[in-house]
Amino acid sequence: MKEKIDYLESLREKARLGGGADKIAKQHEKGKFTARERVDLLLDEGSFDELDMFVESRATDFGLDKKKVPGDGVVTGFGKINGRVVAVFSQDFTVFGGSLSEAHAEKICKIMDLAMKMGIPIIGLNDSGGARIQEGVVSLGGYADIFLRNTLASGVVPQISAILGPSAGGAVYSPAITDFIFMARGTSYMFVTGPNVVKTVTHEEVSFEDLGGADTHASKSGVAHFAFDNEIEVIENIRKLIDFIPQNWKDRAPETDFDFAQDLIVPELNNIVPENPNKPYDMKKVINLLIDDGDFMEVHAEYAENIIVGFARMGGVSIGIIANQPASLAGVLDINSSKKAARFVRFCDAFNIPLLVLEDVPGFLPGTEQEWNGIISNGAKLLFAFSEATVPKVTVITRKAYGGAYDVMNSKHIRGDFNFAWPTAEIAVMGPKGAVEIIFNKEIKNAENPEEKLEEMINTYREKFANPFIAASRGYIDDVIEPSETRKKLVNVFQLLKTKVDSNPKKKHSNIPL
Ligand code: HXC
Repeated sequence: MKEKIDYLESLREKARLGGGADKIAKQHEKGKFTARERVDLLLDEGSFDELDMFVESRATDFGLDKKKVPGDGVVTGFGKINGRVVAVFSQDFTVFGGSLSEAHAEKICKIMDLAMKMGIPIIGLNDSGGARIQEGVVSLGGYADIFLRNTLASGVVPQISAILGPSAGGAVYSPAITDFIFMARGTSYMFVTGPNVVKTVTHEEVSFEDLGGADTHASKSGVAHFAFDNEIEVIENIRKLIDFIPQNWKDRAPETDFDFAQDLIVPELNNIVPENPNKPYDMKKVINLLIDDGDFMEVHAEYAENIIVGFARMGGVSIGIIANQPASLAGVLDINSSKKAARFVRFCDAFNIPLLVLEDVPGFLPGTEQEWNGIISNGAKLLFAFSEATVPKVTVITRKAYGGAYDVMNSKHIRGDFNFAWPTAEIAVMGPKGAVEIIFNKEIKNAENPEEKLEEMINTYREKFANPFIAASRGYIDDVIEPSETRKKLVNVFQLLKTKVDSNPKKKHSNIPL
């Protein structure tokens, strides 16, 4: 027996070494951890159960029969994050550059299939040179097998991707289908075609980092939801995200303990919205004052900053926040902010995470650039996402709620459950200046002093329409509340809404304006 156990241990030892000590040293020189070190950082100590450690490539061409490495370039298994089980695959760059072979793909598919059956999140740590070139079409087939599973798992279990090295060519489409992409600055990049091909085709000179690095995707393309300075921060934040979300679509996110007897009045909230309605303020201050412990996990923090999205807790309940940001482009809705928020709303709705909307929006951004690039269909994404969502939905209008944007931002009409407004709210078809220039055009033009007349009409309009009370008199707003009492109200309504049940008509699937 001892002999057999020793033999087993020697095989395990070989598998743990991956591509060998030299390749591990090279990986470290690049400032990267190995696949196994990453798994250890990600999971609770001692919780990892590995599968398929002895799987090897079956390929024989190009001398591959003499280069077999147990595990074939990917570490797969199960483990825990703060006591909750997750499935993990971690690509090993020390083995053929983490490239995806038939056997490598089969290991990933197996862990995904098991995760789907068990109803647990799937976390992929990607570090790969793409399809294993020597295996040809078989590795392309392996990718397609993974893409299919990513698609089928979408909305069933949360899927999280960390890009911790190269992710190039068609390989990018697996992370792209998952719910969240994390990237590490300086060591990770994603692109469909690399700098050399770009130069040949378009004559543009661009570095790997500029073309597809973490900052590029976190701020320009929006492909990455999170960018961090190093792998440790990436992995710590994946752990943090897991704490905010449920295990699967039938589950609910874990709740934290909360003392309901505490004082929930926040006087500072009364002093945030400026007297001058055209002056910006930072909606993140409002968020921090409203949520439990100021603990906000912002998603897409550097992309489309005119809208803020992210996770927080309200009275111990995990919620998703969607907030216009008056400090960026006056909080206007444009193509990118609509897409960003719509994707977030759909994630929360798929996984039973209640939504809180903080609204201060002057409308949709005008201009040819926006119209020609499809603000109509892109804005419709957000409208569709909110309309379709059946999770608890709460809105607080802090200031402006103008035009179509009033309807879109989780209004009562599209099934908002509780819609509140601060006394500073302005709810109308359009802003006062634009409105009076249209409806009092002649009076202003013919007035002795047109400028004075314009000012007078703006004031009349503001008094009549730019307030929350007309909407409240119709019941479109459930209550006008003092800002300082907002946290108390929200803690209360998110408790009330725990038993909410709503549904959509039966159908194969909806057809969101993509
Ligand atoms: C087989 C590969 C490989 C691959 C790297 N290696 N990529 N082996 N298939 N795709 C091997 C290298 O031969 C080398 O082996 C080891 O991994 C490390 O690679 P290096 O080049 O030394 O590392 P580095 O300098 O860091 O460069 C990393 C890299 C580069 C930028 C990823 O290796 C590279 O350009 N690889 C090819 C990328 C690519 O074109 N892949 C196909 C994309 S298309 P040794 O034995 O020398 O250490 C694709 C289609 C997917 O993936 C389609 C899905 C639909």
